[in-house]
Amino acid sequence: MNVRARRSELATPASNDWMFAKAAASGADLVFLDLEDACAPAEREAARAKAADGLRNLDWGRATRAIRMNGVDTRWAHGDVIEVVTHAREALDVIIVPKVRRARDVWWVDVLLTQLEQTLGLTKRIALEVLIEETEGLEHVGEIARSSPRLEAVIFGAGDFSASQGARVDTNFDPVVDYPGDMWHYARARVVVAARSAGIDAIDAPFPNYRDPEAYRAAAERAAAMGYVGKWAIHPSQIEPANQVFAPTPEEIAQAQKTVAAYREAEATGRGATGLDGMLVDAAHLRLADNITRRAELLGLSQGSPS
Ligand code: GLV
Ligand code: MG
Repeated sequence: MNVRARRSELATPASNDWMFAKAAASGADLVFLDLEDACAPAEREAARAKAADGLRNLDWGRATRAIRMNGVDTRWAHGDVIEVVTHAREALDVIIVPKVRRARDVWWVDVLLTQLEQTLGLTKRIALEVLIEETEGLEHVGEIARSSPRLEAVIFGAGDFSASQGARVDTNFDPVVDYPGDMWHYARARVVVAARSAGIDAIDAPFPNYRDPEAYRAAAERAAAMGYVGKWAIHPSQIEPANQVFAPTPEEIAQAQKTVAAYREAEATGRGATGLDGMLVDAAHLRLADNITRRAELLGLSQGSPS
């Protein structure tokens, strides 16, 4: 069950503990302290204790507290999980697993966590999110998305994915030529279909160009239109646009309530469809409205239900 808001997922290098307080107060739905690629390899082991201390000692407010561990094919993976979970205990909500290629990568983390939770007597289960950023991971995204009851979200990682695919992109992971359409549409579509099929969230990729908030917003809007419920923020300035774009607007919420009311009224008189403001309303519209209402409830934006 995915019950967390994750409109914005803020990345913060776990080696840079002077940045943690600002991250904790940033307004991001989820903050992850990154033990992987934002940390220099020489810093990665020392960063574990910094991350655990930061998670325990700071006030994170409503933010979900996460780390990104190193990939399961690296020498750091088991130490990341054991050290941070042992010291942070219940102050850690989510572990992001990068460069997942197969379901077995997720099982490996799941088994390790189960043993740790039992040994440490933890009172709550640590959840997982996975990054799909290897072509092999995209090939297996369906099985990966269903690989563990801990798994709450699948994230599309356009940066490493570009490298894995051998794509020729600029530093914002955009194609170096005038590519017709969205070069990453296929990958994004597969990720969101796999996530939704498994009943979990799809989260969109990082956007390195933090000086172009309009382009960030446009990318977030396109992802939201496809069914993504959030996007990474690699800079605090990207949090607010993500929080706005991935929340239903008051107009959408009001329209959803009108749709449900119209459908229920039709249903009460034995009809399966009706008209509303010159537009057909049927069971598919009810499902769409339900999506909006659920998101509004999750984000605390509900305006009361229609009578
Ligand atoms: C994220 O980790 C990416 O590679 O895009
Ligand atoms: Mg990556």
